[in-house]
Amino acid sequence: MQLEHVGIVGSGIMGSGVAEVALLAGFQVTLRSRTHTNAHKSLELIERSLQRRLEKEKITPKERSEALRRLTTTTDVDAVSECQLVIESISEDLKSKKSLFSHLDEVCAHETVLATNTSTLPIIELAAATNRADRVCGIHFFNPAPLMGLVEVIPALTTSASTLDLAVSFVQRCRKEAVVAKDEAGFIVNSLLFPYLNSAITLLERGTASMEAIDASMRLGCGYPMGPFQLLDLIGLDTSLAILEALHREFGTQSSLPAPTLKRLVASGRLGRKTGHGFYSYDASAL
Ligand SMILES: NC(=O)c1ccc[n+]([C@@H]2O[C@H](COP(=O)([O-])OP(=O)(O)OC[C@H]3O[C@@H](n4cnc5c(N)ncnc54)[C@H](O)[C@@H]3O)[C@@H](O)[C@H]2O)c1
Repeated sequence: MQLEHVGIVGSGIMGSGVAEVALLAGFQVTLRSRTHTNAHKSLELIERSLQRRLEKEKITPKERSEALRRLTTTTDVDAVSECQLVIESISEDLKSKKSLFSHLDEVCAHETVLATNTSTLPIIELAAATNRADRVCGIHFFNPAPLMGLVEVIPALTTSASTLDLAVSFVQRCRKEAVVAKDEAGFIVNSLLFPYLNSAITLLERGTASMEAIDASMRLGCGYPMGPFQLLDLIGLDTSLAILEALHREFGTQSSLPAPTLKRLVASGRLGRKTGHGFYSYDASAL
């Protein structure tokens, strides 16, 4: 099967980023949002990001206009039915994802591969929500998708070799490094990263140091590009909490038991950069 047309369902931070990556790789992209407002926001996000690339001379004006010409935004989930690959990137909630997979299974063409960008949830449960368990897998991009070089590809127990090949070749056409990981919570990166991020919150709760001091320590002392609180705010605190809960459900380790401060911030609606407040506050114009 020649992969030309990619559907993306969910147009938040990751859905929009993955759409941009696929557009620049030459794919036709249909990006589905729940509302017209969200569709408009994601289009603006992609346009702004392409404009920044143009100003940095990373793409030509022709590449920018052709990428945008290949993009269709929609609020109709059935508009992805003819895509050869559909990547789900809605909120990290198993029930919502299962119901979406079951709907996509009904409307999508027989040969369509259904992939999920989940950070931690069991791929096999999404596969089992369909009648095409051999054509379901995880394709896990990192944030911000246009900048990060890695993508984890996760076959479920039921995933066929041809589905895995298609996923790996899609990632390679997107000019990213594909690593294959087992279907277990957190895969590779998040099972190493999240106990560290959670420990940073515990350090703050114990009063060991301020957020700014912890962030500066990891940036300047370890050479990390950003500190743990800056990274948590970038990822989104709701997503971070869902990832820790999934890790804790699966492995029961103390290091993945979500720190109380994280739960309180999520309950208060402070979800990080995307809402303007998380551990830090952000000026809307700088986002
Ligand atoms: N944020 C990250 O750093 C990151 C990195 C890699 C993967 N992911 C994964 O990507 C997925 C999306 O995360 P995000 O950071 O883009 O979240 P987000 O909050 O920015 O966006 C989620 C989008 O899903 C939509 N949505 C929520 N529930 C829905 C439903 N039931 N049906 C249809 N649409 C629905 C929302 O309207 C929103 O547009 C999650 O599975 C997350 O774990 C996130």
